[in-house]
Amino acid sequence: MGDAEALGASPPSQSIKEQWLWPSQQPSLGATMTPPASKSSSKGLEGIVAAQSSICFIDGDKGILSYRGYDINELAPNATFEEVVYLLWHGHLPNREELEGLRAKLAANRELPPVALKVLKDVAASMGPMDALRTTVSALGAGRNDADKYTVEIDMQKAVETTAQLATIVAYYHRLRMGKPLVHPDGKLSHAANFLYMLNGEKPTPAAERAFDVALVLHADHDLNASTFSARVTAATLADYHGAITSAVGTLKGPLHGGANIEVMKMLLEIEASHVDPEDWIKHQLAKKRKIAGFGHRVYKTLDPRAVHLAKLSKSLGEQAKNTQWYEMSLKLQKAMKAEKGIDANVDFFSASSYYVMGIPLDLYTPIFAVSRVAGWSAHVLEQHGDNRLIRPLSDYTGELGKKWTAITKRSPPQLEAKAKA
Ligand code: ACO
Repeated sequence: MGDAEALGASPPSQSIKEQWLWPSQQPSLGATMTPPASKSSSKGLEGIVAAQSSICFIDGDKGILSYRGYDINELAPNATFEEVVYLLWHGHLPNREELEGLRAKLAANRELPPVALKVLKDVAASMGPMDALRTTVSALGAGRNDADKYTVEIDMQKAVETTAQLATIVAYYHRLRMGKPLVHPDGKLSHAANFLYMLNGEKPTPAAERAFDVALVLHADHDLNASTFSARVTAATLADYHGAITSAVGTLKGPLHGGANIEVMKMLLEIEASHVDPEDWIKHQLAKKRKIAGFGHRVYKTLDPRAVHLAKLSKSLGEQAKNTQWYEMSLKLQKAMKAEKGIDANVDFFSASSYYVMGIPLDLYTPIFAVSRVAGWSAHVLEQHGDNRLIRPLSDYTGELGKKWTAITKRSPPQLEAKAKA
């Protein structure tokens, strides 16, 4: 055996007879060649540090979250969404002039480019909201002569436009599918108030505007969560900015990630309709080994700090609407999950009852998450482009090696192969 073979670079030769054996009868890998030493791997990349970042800090054991060094407990009661956007993109809180500058740019870029509006009108009736959002975000890049350019100024301009327009896409989508006339953006309104205005056709009360603003602040970034990671992976290939945001929207949709907030509200409605005690409902679901939406987190081993603020929001919105039943049911579920499984609520849990009391349609909860998180995705694309290297991990290969080519006439039909293996 030559050196290369000894290192496993090429498989040892097989006899002609061995080559015509059915795959199930062929010697196993162990019998033919030594597998390479196993690399360490982590299912779901748990515990893997995949990037250096100065945007967002999380201590999952202590339940700490901060954006650019500002604890979420400082930001939630004080900051507007626009201030958080500036903070995430520039690394410091804006002074008055800087904030006014960003507000003016966001307000000036809210209308959709014609191609994107046409795409949205084409898909609004036949696609769900996250699918329509993904498709339309992709179309925001149409016809740009700077689509494949990556200077900080160009990335920042795309971030401003996309953050402004993503809210418009969600509101227009809802109006289009309901057959209602579009409500065009009002440049005098804040991002939060303008979104609610475009969605409902009425200017929100100051309390509703602030509640929605707080929800946007709380969802704006969260380190290398699944959708942000996919945005960074796409950005790192030097594919276009809109491609990165499109990847992120596609990833956010899943019920293990941003899609969980819809599932939470469906659960609350189901419990209400079936007149079951929430604690019994949790016990029953856990006995069936079901996952409960809105609970658990890969990073937080304690209560998600965003859930604390969203719980307060859910309570106060319920009190204002004289309907605290969803908040109260949520509290019972939270207590039962903690007692039964030791697992606490995540960001999606109390946002569901908050949005429900605000009268927001269920299937817009995840798109609204994107309305906020686009700020974080953009910050991460900017950071990735600022010090780029292709993101390309390895897998720990668990398959076979050293198989020999089998002519098509000699291959067994799949069902026979399966039978032979059984
Ligand atoms: N309900 C019941 N059990 C749960 C839950 C839950 N929501 N979450 C975790 N567990 C249990 C698992 O059954 C498992 O228990 P076991 O070891 O006895 O089998 C253990 O906790 C670990 O669970 P994993 O799924 O391996 O944890 P992972 O870190 O991979 O998943 C995730 C995290 C996906 C968030 C999970 O907690 C989950 O599915 N939650 C429900 C969906 C949800 O709310 N997603 C939103 C998360 S926040 C966000 O992305 C915006």
